[in-house]
Amino acid sequence: MTRVIGIASGKGGVGKTTVSTNLALALRDFGKKVLLIDCNLSTPHLAYYLGVSNYKSTLNDAMLGKVGIESTPQLKDGIKYIPASLDLKDLNGIDTMDFKKHLKKLVASDKFDYIILDSAPGLGREALAVLDAAEEVIFVTTPFVPMVNDIIRSAEVLKKLKGVKGVSVAMNMVTEGSHEIFGRSISGLTGFPISGQISYDQNVVYGLVAKSPIVNFKPNAASSVEFRKMAAGIAGVDYKAPKSYTVKRAFRKVKNKIFSRSVSMSQSNEDISDDLSIQKMK
Ligand SMILES: Nc1ncnc2c1ncn2[C@@H]1O[C@H](COP(=O)(O)OP(=O)(O)O)[C@@H](O)[C@H]1O
Ligand SMILES: [Mg+2]
Repeated sequence: MTRVIGIASGKGGVGKTTVSTNLALALRDFGKKVLLIDCNLSTPHLAYYLGVSNYKSTLNDAMLGKVGIESTPQLKDGIKYIPASLDLKDLNGIDTMDFKKHLKKLVASDKFDYIILDSAPGLGREALAVLDAAEEVIFVTTPFVPMVNDIIRSAEVLKKLKGVKGVSVAMNMVTEGSHEIFGRSISGLTGFPISGQISYDQNVVYGLVAKSPIVNFKPNAASSVEFRKMAAGIAGVDYKAPKSYTVKRAFRKVKNKIFSRSVSMSQSNEDISDDLSIQKMK
């Protein structure tokens, strides 16, 4: 059975495409068959993040009826992907609401364990068309308070999408400084479990420049280990982080405790909804 996972966020730049790409590659590392689709038709980045510049067809081609969607998945690094067109004129005539219909055909082909949808930010028509087609949604956020408000507001909308059965939150660019909101606070406020916690890792950006996603570029980087942890959690497989990762993380925690005390939020993290006027979800 194919699991369809939509990757969403309140705003752009929080790491949706990074999470989509590396989650797909990490699932591949566990032997899963993965299809990654660039559903951000207005500002597509997926092919670039995967390091591909020559592709034979796009999601736009399928949505414009030029080719059948079944012929659009292309192979890269052990996963299949469908890019979106970079040509603005390929947006003419596309109704994003048709996406669900195309996706159904890919699901019916039963070729994939996972289909991951990299969506547009926010809750506009483009993003909603994609999220409506997903069964599971992973909401990507950075660990700062205004973002939690986005999750809470978006949750109201996601709840109305009948096909969406499960929502979780992936925290990205985490440094575990005491000025950051904790995963357990986000979970407590939103009622959603945390499906991933990815460190702020400069190697992610170096990988982007090298056109190689971090899981391929530096498989032992902290963020790569965390992407594998996330994928293992989603796929329900056992994974034990290497010892070097566990030791480095313990050091980082101590260092952060010492150096970020002046802006500490660790007290209010326990009671953040009062302190920061966040409306707890009912
Ligand atoms: N964990 C991370 N650590 C450091 N930089 C990151 C991390 N995740 C993403 N980035 C960088 O942040 C920028 C935005 O990420 P991107 O995945 O394009 O966000 P979105 O798809 O939500 O717009 C990119 O330059 C990316 O390399
Ligand atoms: Mg993106």
